[in-house]
Amino acid sequence: MKGKVVIVTGANAGIGKATAARLADLGATVVLACRCKERGEAALSELSCVNGRCFDLMALDLADQGSIRAFAEAFTKKYGRLDVLINNAGILGRHRAETKQGFEMSFEVNYLGAFLLTMLLLPLLEKSGQGRVVMTTSVAHGWGDVRLNDLNYTRGYNRFAAYGHSKLCCLLFTRALAEKLRARSSRVTVNAVHPGIVATDIVVNRANGRFQWVARLMKILFMTSDEGAKTNVYLASEPTLHDVSGEYFYRCKIEPSSAESRNLASANRLYDTSLRLCGLDDPLKS
Ligand SMILES: NC(=O)c1ccc[n+]([C@@H]2O[C@H](COP(=O)([O-])OP(=O)(O)OC[C@H]3O[C@@H](n4cnc5c(N)ncnc54)[C@H](OP(=O)(O)O)[C@@H]3O)[C@@H](O)[C@H]2O)c1
Repeated sequence: MKGKVVIVTGANAGIGKATAARLADLGATVVLACRCKERGEAALSELSCVNGRCFDLMALDLADQGSIRAFAEAFTKKYGRLDVLINNAGILGRHRAETKQGFEMSFEVNYLGAFLLTMLLLPLLEKSGQGRVVMTTSVAHGWGDVRLNDLNYTRGYNRFAAYGHSKLCCLLFTRALAEKLRARSSRVTVNAVHPGIVATDIVVNRANGRFQWVARLMKILFMTSDEGAKTNVYLASEPTLHDVSGEYFYRCKIEPSSAESRNLASANRLYDTSLRLCGLDDPLKS
């Protein structure tokens, strides 16, 4: 990964932090894209303790499309190249909440924000020798169908269902984008990953620290963040994957995903709707 530039979103904690560490150990320059300055700086100083690693810290709040656009602009100006984008950041919402632009929080943070970021950075990825996008999804993508008429979960909200729905959207986007890139003979690939069930702070309420006991219990039962990061690192760095795109990976292997996640018509409808929700023209229109 020497000479390569990688962005990891949500790199100050859990799987994202472990992914950033491993990719820096392989020689990449890793940009930690974090929403909270203090947590980002704490991660940066912890990760930088190992000699030879190269990191940068940049502000990115996926719950605010203004922040996503500002990040993409600042990153493009500063680096002018991007080899790997790891869309790792994610939340398991507690109650139904809305973002600055009025989207349901887990839909925007887990999916729509990553969609917008990817589309804004595609020109840089296309300039790279072989640009890669990694979408973090979850086995939870299989819990339901895509709600193309109620993407914002205004009816019958349930935190787990909304989480699974956002992860299904990530997989559908992976399929649609892979097809569109293939159709223009682009060298950019996009794949999705289920990291496994990993003991992280995803269950902890960031505002008041509640549910830390659940995170402690998870540490006894589930994988470590380093183990959870392995498939991200594999997808970012494995040379033989240069033409593998549109797949769902678990434990560094292609796995079957739900039937709903393989529906290309739904994937294309979601892609078109997402462009509209983000106010974007389709950069891949033929
Ligand atoms: N843990 C599992 O078992 C598991 C299983 C399947 C999939 N996943 C997925 O793996 C990914 C990483 O999760 P994790 O388990 O490592 O959780 P985590 O430890 O809670 O880390 C989540 C990261 O996302 C960041 N984030 C949250 N909201 C954000 C926003 N609005 N803008 C930018 N960054 C934001 C968090 O930043 P703050 O620290 O500032 O909140 C944190 O850095 C997620 O997409 C998750 O859905 C996890």
